[in-house]
Amino acid sequence: MKITAFGQAPRSKVRISTLQEKKLRHEVISSVSLGDFASARLADEAGIDFILVGDSLAMTLLGYESTLPVTMDEMLHHTRAVRRGVKYAMVVADMPFGSYQVSVEEGVKNAARFMKDAGAEAVKVEGGEKRAELVRRIVEAEVPVMGHIGLTPQSVNLMSGYKVQGKTIEAVENLMRDAVALERAGAFAVLLEGVPREVAAMITGELSVPTIGIGAGPDCDGQILVFHDLMGLSTEPSAKFVRKYADGASIAAAAVRAYKADLESRQFPSDGESYHLPKEAQLALAPGLTRKREMLH
Ligand code: KIV
Repeated sequence: MKITAFGQAPRSKVRISTLQEKKLRHEVISSVSLGDFASARLADEAGIDFILVGDSLAMTLLGYESTLPVTMDEMLHHTRAVRRGVKYAMVVADMPFGSYQVSVEEGVKNAARFMKDAGAEAVKVEGGEKRAELVRRIVEAEVPVMGHIGLTPQSVNLMSGYKVQGKTIEAVENLMRDAVALERAGAFAVLLEGVPREVAAMITGELSVPTIGIGAGPDCDGQILVFHDLMGLSTEPSAKFVRKYADGASIAAAAVRAYKADLESRQFPSDGESYHLPKEAQLALAPGLTRKREMLH
Protein backbone atom coordinates (compact mmCIF):
# COMPACT_ATOMS: atom_id res chain seq x y z
CA MET A 1 0.00 0.00 0.00
CA LYS A 2 1.33 3.44 -0.97
CA ILE A 3 1.83 5.74 2.02
CA THR A 4 1.79 9.53 1.53
CA ALA A 5 4.56 11.90 2.69
CA PHE A 6 2.53 12.49 5.86
CA GLY A 7 2.39 8.77 6.73
CA GLN A 8 -1.28 8.31 5.85
CA ALA A 9 -2.73 5.53 3.73
CA PRO A 10 -4.53 6.81 0.61
CA ARG A 11 -8.27 7.28 1.09
CA SER A 12 -11.33 8.06 -0.89
CA LYS A 13 -13.15 11.35 -1.32
CA VAL A 14 -15.39 12.26 1.61
CA ARG A 15 -18.98 12.92 0.62
CA ILE A 16 -22.24 13.52 2.48
CA SER A 17 -22.88 9.76 2.31
CA THR A 18 -19.52 9.15 4.06
CA LEU A 19 -20.62 11.31 6.99
CA GLN A 20 -24.02 9.63 7.10
CA GLU A 21 -22.42 6.17 7.10
CA LYS A 22 -20.08 7.22 9.91
CA LYS A 23 -23.06 8.23 12.04
CA LEU A 24 -24.70 4.86 11.42
CA ARG A 25 -21.48 3.00 12.27
CA HIS A 26 -20.88 5.20 15.36
CA GLU A 27 -17.52 6.31 13.94
CA VAL A 28 -16.58 9.84 14.88
CA ILE A 29 -16.64 12.49 12.13
CA SER A 30 -13.58 14.74 12.29
CA SER A 31 -13.55 18.35 11.22
CA VAL A 32 -11.39 21.46 11.44
CA SER A 33 -12.34 25.06 10.75
CA LEU A 34 -9.62 26.92 8.84
CA GLY A 35 -9.13 29.34 6.00
CA ASP A 36 -5.85 28.96 4.13
CA PHE A 37 -4.08 26.65 1.70
CA ALA A 38 -1.25 25.45 4.00
CA SER A 39 -3.42 24.43 6.94
CA ALA A 40 -6.01 22.91 4.59
CA ARG A 41 -3.33 20.68 3.08
CA LEU A 42 -2.15 19.60 6.55
CA ALA A 43 -5.69 18.79 7.70
CA ASP A 44 -6.47 16.91 4.49
CA GLU A 45 -3.26 14.88 4.71
CA ALA A 46 -4.08 14.10 8.37
CA GLY A 47 -7.31 12.45 7.19
CA ILE A 48 -9.82 15.00 8.47
CA ASP A 49 -13.32 14.27 7.08
CA PHE A 50 -14.51 17.78 6.35
CA ILE A 51 -13.02 21.23 6.44
CA LEU A 52 -15.18 24.17 7.36
CA VAL A 53 -14.02 27.46 5.90
CA GLY A 54 -15.46 29.04 9.01
CA ASP A 55 -16.19 32.72 9.35
CA SER A 56 -14.03 32.57 12.51
CA LEU A 57 -11.25 33.30 10.00
CA ALA A 58 -12.47 36.88 10.38
CA MET A 59 -10.65 36.85 13.73
CA THR A 60 -7.90 34.24 13.25
CA LEU A 61 -6.69 35.32 9.80
CA LEU A 62 -8.03 38.82 9.26
CA GLY A 63 -7.80 40.37 12.73
CA TYR A 64 -11.44 41.48 13.04
CA GLU A 65 -12.96 41.50 16.52
CA SER A 66 -15.92 39.29 15.60
CA THR A 67 -17.23 37.31 12.64
CA LEU A 68 -19.63 40.10 11.67
CA PRO A 69 -17.48 42.21 9.32
CA VAL A 70 -16.17 39.43 7.04
CA THR A 71 -17.58 39.77 3.52
CA MET A 72 -18.74 37.39 0.79
CA ASP A 73 -15.68 38.31 -1.29
CA GLU A 74 -13.31 37.56 1.60
CA MET A 75 -15.03 34.22 2.31
CA LEU A 76 -14.93 33.27 -1.39
CA HIS A 77 -11.22 34.16 -1.56
CA HIS A 78 -10.40 31.97 1.47
CA THR A 79 -12.62 29.12 0.26
CA ARG A 80 -10.70 29.03 -3.05
CA ALA A 81 -7.39 28.86 -1.16
CA VAL A 82 -8.65 25.98 1.00
CA ARG A 83 -10.05 24.19 -2.06
CA ARG A 84 -6.58 24.26 -3.66
CA GLY A 85 -5.13 22.52 -0.58
CA VAL A 86 -7.68 19.71 -0.32
CA LYS A 87 -7.96 16.42 -2.20
CA TYR A 88 -10.15 14.18 -0.06
CA ALA A 89 -11.92 16.14 2.67
CA MET A 90 -15.29 17.69 2.01
CA VAL A 91 -15.12 21.50 1.90
CA VAL A 92 -17.97 23.38 3.59
CA ALA A 93 -18.10 27.18 3.34
CA ASP A 94 -19.58 29.34 6.08
CA MET A 95 -22.03 31.92 4.77
CA PRO A 96 -21.01 35.26 6.29
CA PHE A 97 -23.27 37.60 8.23
CA GLY A 98 -25.50 39.58 5.87
CA SER A 99 -25.22 37.12 2.98
CA TYR A 100 -28.46 35.22 3.77
CA GLN A 101 -30.35 37.17 6.44
CA VAL A 102 -31.84 39.82 4.12
CA SER A 103 -33.81 37.59 1.76
CA VAL A 104 -34.10 33.93 0.80
CA GLU A 105 -33.36 34.83 -2.86
CA GLU A 106 -30.10 36.53 -1.92
CA GLY A 107 -29.20 33.61 0.35
CA VAL A 108 -29.74 31.07 -2.44
CA LYS A 109 -27.68 33.19 -4.89
CA ASN A 110 -24.81 33.57 -2.41
CA ALA A 111 -24.88 29.87 -1.48
CA ALA A 112 -24.56 28.95 -5.16
CA ARG A 113 -21.57 31.30 -5.53
CA PHE A 114 -19.63 29.26 -2.95
CA MET A 115 -20.04 26.17 -5.13
CA LYS A 116 -19.71 27.81 -8.54
CA ASP A 117 -16.98 30.40 -7.87
CA ALA A 118 -15.01 28.81 -5.02
CA GLY A 119 -15.39 25.03 -5.29
CA ALA A 120 -17.17 24.47 -1.95
CA GLU A 121 -19.24 21.31 -1.72
CA ALA A 122 -21.70 22.65 0.84
CA VAL A 123 -22.49 25.76 2.87
CA LYS A 124 -23.29 26.38 6.53
CA VAL A 125 -25.88 28.83 7.83
CA GLU A 126 -26.58 29.87 11.41
CA GLY A 127 -30.06 29.63 12.91
CA GLY A 128 -32.74 26.98 13.35
CA GLU A 129 -36.47 27.04 12.61
CA LYS A 130 -36.31 30.60 11.27
CA ARG A 131 -33.88 29.39 8.55
CA ALA A 132 -35.96 26.35 7.53
CA GLU A 133 -37.37 27.99 4.38
CA LEU A 134 -33.91 29.27 3.37
CA VAL A 135 -32.34 25.84 3.90
CA ARG A 136 -35.09 24.18 1.86
CA ARG A 137 -34.58 26.63 -1.03
CA ILE A 138 -30.77 26.36 -1.00
CA VAL A 139 -31.02 22.56 -1.06
CA GLU A 140 -33.56 22.80 -3.90
CA ALA A 141 -30.90 24.80 -5.75
CA GLU A 142 -28.63 21.71 -5.40
CA VAL A 143 -26.38 23.19 -2.70
CA PRO A 144 -26.06 20.97 0.41
CA VAL A 145 -26.55 22.84 3.70
CA MET A 146 -25.20 22.31 7.20
CA GLY A 147 -27.25 23.97 9.93
CA HIS A 148 -25.69 25.63 12.99
CA ILE A 149 -27.60 26.15 16.24
CA GLY A 150 -26.90 26.85 19.91
CA LEU A 151 -24.30 29.57 20.34
CA THR A 152 -24.44 31.22 16.92
CA PRO A 153 -21.68 33.88 16.82
CA GLN A 154 -23.42 35.97 14.13
CA SER A 155 -26.20 36.61 16.71
CA VAL A 156 -23.72 37.87 19.33
CA ASN A 157 -25.60 41.14 19.77
CA LEU A 158 -29.02 39.53 20.07
CA MET A 159 -27.62 36.96 22.55
CA SER A 160 -25.89 39.73 24.56
CA GLY A 161 -22.52 38.01 24.23
CA TYR A 162 -21.04 34.57 23.58
CA LYS A 163 -22.95 32.43 26.09
CA VAL A 164 -23.72 28.75 26.45
CA GLN A 165 -27.26 28.19 25.10
CA GLY A 166 -29.98 25.69 26.01
CA LYS A 167 -29.77 25.91 29.78
CA THR A 168 -33.51 25.97 30.61
CA ILE A 169 -36.24 23.47 29.74
CA GLU A 170 -37.80 26.00 27.36
CA ALA A 171 -34.45 26.70 25.68
CA VAL A 172 -33.82 22.96 25.29
CA GLU A 173 -37.23 22.50 23.67
CA ASN A 174 -36.50 25.38 21.29
CA LEU A 175 -33.14 23.87 20.35
CA MET A 176 -34.73 20.50 19.68
CA ARG A 177 -37.38 22.20 17.51
CA ASP A 178 -34.62 24.06 15.63
CA ALA A 179 -32.63 20.88 15.01
CA VAL A 180 -35.67 18.94 13.75
CA ALA A 181 -36.75 21.87 11.53
CA LEU A 182 -33.28 21.96 9.91
CA GLU A 183 -33.30 18.21 9.29
CA ARG A 184 -36.81 18.38 7.79
CA ALA A 185 -35.73 21.30 5.57
CA GLY A 186 -32.99 19.08 4.11
CA ALA A 187 -29.85 19.97 6.09
CA PHE A 188 -27.32 17.12 5.75
CA ALA A 189 -25.82 17.83 9.21
CA VAL A 190 -26.38 20.11 12.19
CA LEU A 191 -23.54 21.83 14.02
CA LEU A 192 -24.17 22.29 17.75
CA GLU A 193 -22.11 25.01 19.40
CA GLY A 194 -21.93 25.94 23.08
CA VAL A 195 -24.73 23.74 24.45
CA PRO A 196 -24.79 21.42 27.48
CA ARG A 197 -23.56 17.90 26.79
CA GLU A 198 -26.93 16.42 27.79
CA VAL A 199 -28.76 18.59 25.23
CA ALA A 200 -26.32 17.68 22.44
CA ALA A 201 -26.78 13.99 23.28
CA MET A 202 -30.58 14.30 23.10
CA ILE A 203 -30.47 16.08 19.73
CA THR A 204 -27.93 13.58 18.37
CA GLY A 205 -30.23 10.72 19.37
CA GLU A 206 -33.24 12.39 17.79
CA LEU A 207 -31.75 13.33 14.40
CA SER A 208 -31.02 10.92 11.59
CA VAL A 209 -28.45 13.34 10.10
CA PRO A 210 -25.07 13.74 11.87
CA THR A 211 -24.50 16.34 14.58
CA ILE A 212 -21.12 18.06 14.78
CA GLY A 213 -20.19 19.51 18.15
CA ILE A 214 -18.02 22.35 19.37
CA GLY A 215 -18.34 23.02 23.07
CA ALA A 216 -21.17 20.47 23.04
CA GLY A 217 -19.55 17.47 24.74
CA PRO A 218 -18.47 14.07 23.42
CA ASP A 219 -21.83 12.57 22.41
CA CYS A 220 -22.19 14.31 19.04
CA ASP A 221 -21.56 12.31 15.86
CA GLY A 222 -18.58 14.50 15.04
CA GLN A 223 -16.37 17.21 16.49
CA ILE A 224 -14.91 20.40 15.10
CA LEU A 225 -12.21 22.74 16.43
CA VAL A 226 -10.73 25.89 14.95
CA PHE A 227 -7.24 25.20 13.53
CA HIS A 228 -5.69 28.21 15.33
CA ASP A 229 -7.12 26.98 18.65
CA LEU A 230 -5.95 23.37 18.38
CA MET A 231 -2.53 24.54 17.18
CA GLY A 232 -2.25 27.01 20.06
CA LEU A 233 -1.76 29.87 17.61
CA SER A 234 -4.25 32.22 19.25
CA THR A 235 -2.79 34.51 21.87
CA GLU A 236 -6.23 35.16 23.42
CA PRO A 237 -7.29 32.95 26.38
CA SER A 238 -9.21 30.00 24.94
CA ALA A 239 -12.68 28.70 25.79
CA LYS A 240 -13.17 25.75 28.18
CA PHE A 241 -13.89 23.35 25.31
CA VAL A 242 -10.64 24.04 23.41
CA ARG A 243 -7.86 21.48 23.70
CA LYS A 244 -4.48 22.76 22.49
CA TYR A 245 -2.56 20.05 20.64
CA ALA A 246 0.53 22.23 20.17
CA ASP A 247 1.96 25.43 21.53
CA GLY A 248 2.13 26.91 18.03
CA ALA A 249 2.43 30.55 19.12
CA SER A 250 5.50 29.85 21.31
CA ILE A 251 7.11 27.67 18.63
CA ALA A 252 6.57 30.33 15.93
CA ALA A 253 7.73 33.19 18.17
CA ALA A 254 10.91 31.28 19.18
CA ALA A 255 11.66 30.51 15.53
CA VAL A 256 11.32 34.15 14.46
CA ARG A 257 13.49 35.29 17.40
CA ALA A 258 16.17 32.70 16.50
CA TYR A 259 16.10 33.84 12.86
CA LYS A 260 16.54 37.49 13.88
CA ALA A 261 19.42 36.56 16.21
CA ASP A 262 21.12 34.60 13.39
CA LEU A 263 20.79 37.62 11.10
CA GLU A 264 22.30 39.94 13.70
CA SER A 265 25.22 37.58 14.41
CA ARG A 266 25.66 36.99 10.65
CA GLN A 267 25.08 33.25 11.10
CA PHE A 268 22.43 33.31 8.41
CA PRO A 269 22.65 32.89 5.50
CA SER A 270 25.81 30.77 5.53
CA ASP A 271 28.01 30.03 2.53
CA GLY A 272 26.26 26.65 2.25
CA GLU A 273 22.90 28.41 1.97
CA SER A 274 24.18 30.61 -0.90
CA TYR A 275 24.30 30.10 -4.66
CA HIS A 276 27.74 30.33 -6.30
CA LEU A 277 29.14 31.45 -9.61
CA PRO A 278 30.95 28.72 -11.57
CA LYS A 279 34.66 28.57 -10.56
CA GLU A 280 35.93 30.18 -13.84
CA ALA A 281 33.61 33.15 -13.47
CA GLN A 282 34.65 33.53 -9.81
CA LEU A 283 38.34 33.65 -10.86
CA ALA A 284 37.67 36.15 -13.66
CA LEU A 285 35.71 38.42 -11.30
CA ALA A 286 37.91 37.81 -8.22
CA PRO A 287 39.17 41.37 -7.54
CA GLY A 288 35.69 42.86 -7.87
CA LEU A 289 34.12 40.17 -5.67
CA THR A 290 36.70 40.65 -2.93
CA ARG A 291 36.08 44.42 -2.90
CA LYS A 292 32.29 43.86 -2.73
CA ARG A 293 32.62 41.41 0.23
CA GLU A 294 34.87 43.87 2.06
CA MET A 295 32.29 46.61 1.61
CA LEU A 296 29.52 44.36 2.98
CA HIS A 297 31.35 43.15 6.12
O1 KIV B 1 -16.59 29.82 12.01
C1 KIV B 1 -16.30 28.79 12.61
O2 KIV B 1 -15.14 28.41 12.74
C2 KIV B 1 -17.43 28.04 13.18
C3 KIV B 1 -17.19 27.09 14.31
C4 KIV B 1 -18.45 26.60 14.85
C5 KIV B 1 -16.32 25.97 14.06
O3 KIV B 1 -18.52 28.23 12.78
